[in-house]
Amino acid sequence: MIRTRTAVLPDVEHIHAIIQPYADAGTLLPRPVAELCENVRDFMVAEDDGRVIGCGALHLYGTHLAEIRSIAVAPAAKGRGAGRLLVDALMGEAKRQSVSCVCLFTRTPEFFAHLGFEVARRQELPDKIYKDCVCCPHLSSCDEVAMVKGQIPANTNGLRDPRIAIPLVQLKP
Ligand SMILES: CC(C)(COP(=O)(O)OP(=O)(O)OC[C@H]1O[C@@H](n2cnc3c(N)ncnc32)[C@H](O)[C@@H]1OP(=O)(O)O)[C@@H](O)C(=O)NCCC(=O)NCCS
Repeated sequence: MIRTRTAVLPDVEHIHAIIQPYADAGTLLPRPVAELCENVRDFMVAEDDGRVIGCGALHLYGTHLAEIRSIAVAPAAKGRGAGRLLVDALMGEAKRQSVSCVCLFTRTPEFFAHLGFEVARRQELPDKIYKDCVCCPHLSSCDEVAMVKGQIPANTNGLRDPRIAIPLVQLKP
């Protein structure tokens, strides 16, 4: 039976092995091992009979926003509910942390739409822009779709940096 649990350091090699082929194919952002170790407490894994078959992370910006990242299921384990279980588990963690909006940036919007996420405007999520997009080579040619579940934050607790003009990026129609 597939179940989810919080990740621990020994899971990192398995998480990396699942994410890397998708990163090589351009589906997911690469997550180097050192970065995975540093952020392993953000991760949940799905396991089947004790074997890690999927992973996903919840990055916390504050109670106004969290981001689901690096959702991936090993190719041989796709289509058996692990992806949904991971999203449910991360949404449960967001709720436990009193987060009112969960966002994500994806090249697989159909999957998340199926799970109730709605397309959003990236400009409405400046936390993400300051954290990742400003250092990304694809800043002005981003092909990821921004999606949210919950109430998009009306402000970002003062995190918006007035030195950076927004919008920085436009979603493709
Ligand atoms: C997207 C991904 C995580 C789905 O994982 P999965 O374990 O195969 O998904 P599940 O079996 O839990 O599917 C849950 C539901 O979503 C649907 N679904 C799965 N993939 C889908 C897709 N690409 N588009 C639309 N719906 C999809 C399933 O049909 C299922 O529907 P149901 O519960 O109503 O029957 C997996 O295909 C994957 O790892 N893809 C590569 C990495 C990636 O694209 N990650 C997401 C972008 S950040």
